[in-house]
Amino acid sequence: MKIDHISLKYETGLPLKILDQTRIPHHEDWVECLTLDEMVDAIKKLKVRGAPLIGLSANFYLASIADKGLGIDYLMKASKALEESRPTAVNLIHYMRKFRELLSKMESQSWVENWAFEQWEADRLASEKMGTLGATLVKPGANLLTHCNTGGLAAAGNGTAFSVLKKSHDLFGDISVYVDETRPLLQGGRLTTWELKKQGVPFKLITDNMAASLMSMGKVDAVFVGADRIAANGDAANKIGTYGLAVLCKYHNIPFYIVAPEKTIDPELESGSGIPIEQRNRDEVRGWNENLWAPDCETYNPAFDVTPANLITAWVTEKGIMRDENIKQGVFKNLKI
Ligand code: MRU
Repeated sequence: MKIDHISLKYETGLPLKILDQTRIPHHEDWVECLTLDEMVDAIKKLKVRGAPLIGLSANFYLASIADKGLGIDYLMKASKALEESRPTAVNLIHYMRKFRELLSKMESQSWVENWAFEQWEADRLASEKMGTLGATLVKPGANLLTHCNTGGLAAAGNGTAFSVLKKSHDLFGDISVYVDETRPLLQGGRLTTWELKKQGVPFKLITDNMAASLMSMGKVDAVFVGADRIAANGDAANKIGTYGLAVLCKYHNIPFYIVAPEKTIDPELESGSGIPIEQRNRDEVRGWNENLWAPDCETYNPAFDVTPANLITAWVTEKGIMRDENIKQGVFKNLKI
């Protein structure tokens, strides 16, 4: 069994390999995740990132060690350590809980690899479906804006919001994309531009503080972003800066869409106020490596913010385009993950 994806490679009997996303676009280094510490470190340092891909790579890591005779206790411990590596994205939590539930029921561990592949395939199909559904919201010639990275570097297939951009490009040929650079870690500037270039989708990179001005000039027709966790009432956590974009969209009367698979929904959380928001190292804000432009500052550095449901025009999942009325009827709340 084999996966050869833009950001992850897995083959039976071999260690999981991930593309080190901290090195993109200048270097395409593939890193082997041999030990649990290496895998947890890769997730914490964002070598592998994006809500779906974090979870899927944790599944493949467990598949790569499941037949090594380490014992159930060790696998339980490993899945807990993986689950705790980043707190906001819920896909990882869903997968790790399911893994432990199955582990406690099964006699051997031969199922783990098949299970990891099934989750991968489900995410890949969800990506295709979201792309097709999301593109029905786009008009030929549209100027779209996106934030962070939501493509194959963040999920299986073409990802979530990115899949809508790609599908719209394939259908109409004349859409263009504004890419928010996405401070502080530049997932838009470094990763989304890299992926859009590879896929031949025309784009312009902007700094995050340029979106308002573009909108005021009528140059943005819709915003498509992903999510890390969606509460039962539709509130959605995504990369810091997403909430600001949603507020701007409301003011300028521009549709704001969340694109995410059902695995990103947390039916147990009533509202977004319960979503744990990861706080990250101050050096991400003060500068990078030797280039600390603000060396003596305390910082505030949340990795995500929460956009309230009333600012979201629609949620695109693999099951359909959900509107406010669907959410109120309990479509997320009643979901069985
Ligand atoms: O901190 P990151 O880079 O893992 O954050 C990623 C995002 O916020 C994405 O928008 C989200 O995971 C959706 S990706 C399909």
